[in-house]
Amino acid sequence: ITGRLSEKDFAGKKILVTAGPTREYLDPIRFLSNKSSGKMGYALARTAARRGAEVTLLSGPVNLTPPYGVETIFIESASQLAEEVKLHSQNYDIVIMAAAVADFRPADYQKEKIKKGKQFDNFKLNMMRNSDILEGIGRHKKKRQILVGFAAESEDLLNNARDKMEKKNLDMIVANDIAGFTSDQNSVTIITKKYAKDIPLMKKTEIAGIIFDGISELLK
Ligand code: CTP
Ligand code: CA
Repeated sequence: ITGRLSEKDFAGKKILVTAGPTREYLDPIRFLSNKSSGKMGYALARTAARRGAEVTLLSGPVNLTPPYGVETIFIESASQLAEEVKLHSQNYDIVIMAAAVADFRPADYQKEKIKKGKQFDNFKLNMMRNSDILEGIGRHKKKRQILVGFAAESEDLLNNARDKMEKKNLDMIVANDIAGFTSDQNSVTIITKKYAKDIPLMKKTEIAGIIFDGISELLK
């Protein structure tokens, strides 16, 4: 384990990190979301700032304190996140998508609270596909820009993650088992075009250090 936390090896770099879940609203008070805690993304943002980078964090709703020295912008839905990313992503040397972005949203948002009334014996929710934010950034990736994605998998971790890296034009993908979604710790596999490195169970702050060591190598 290296994690050169004391070194300012990312000085002069602009880094965009996304973190946490999204909320996809059905009506003003009801939403679909997921179990993401945001801990991995926040650890990445904090580590990047400590290592000298200028960091912007786009965060879904989480129970965490914004990292010191990091510009933190809160979003709720995947569409809001997509808007913020569109405003930001071009200006950044490194973009890390750790957010657990919802793949679908309710197709018909109801402006008034949905009443159970008598009409609903069973309630069918029609969902439509959200655009893939990371794939969009990958399509317009600038020269020398580094793109990092995460892959949340419950089976066939390595193959699925590699496919996502390819499809989204990424430089690195961090494959994690969904078992670690809410925990302070996780075991992940860091994949680049050159290697797949298994990281045993450890704290997300430590994993963040190792991820930035890998990114630092990619920048050389
Ligand atoms: N992602 C994104 N926009 C989406 C969905 C996902 O930018 N609408 C990003 C995530 O932030 C993550 C990567 O894409 O960095 C992979 O997300 P994941 O959910 O593991 O994969 P998907 O491509 O959505 O495929 P699936 O959920 O079907 O496995
Ligand atoms: Ca997904």
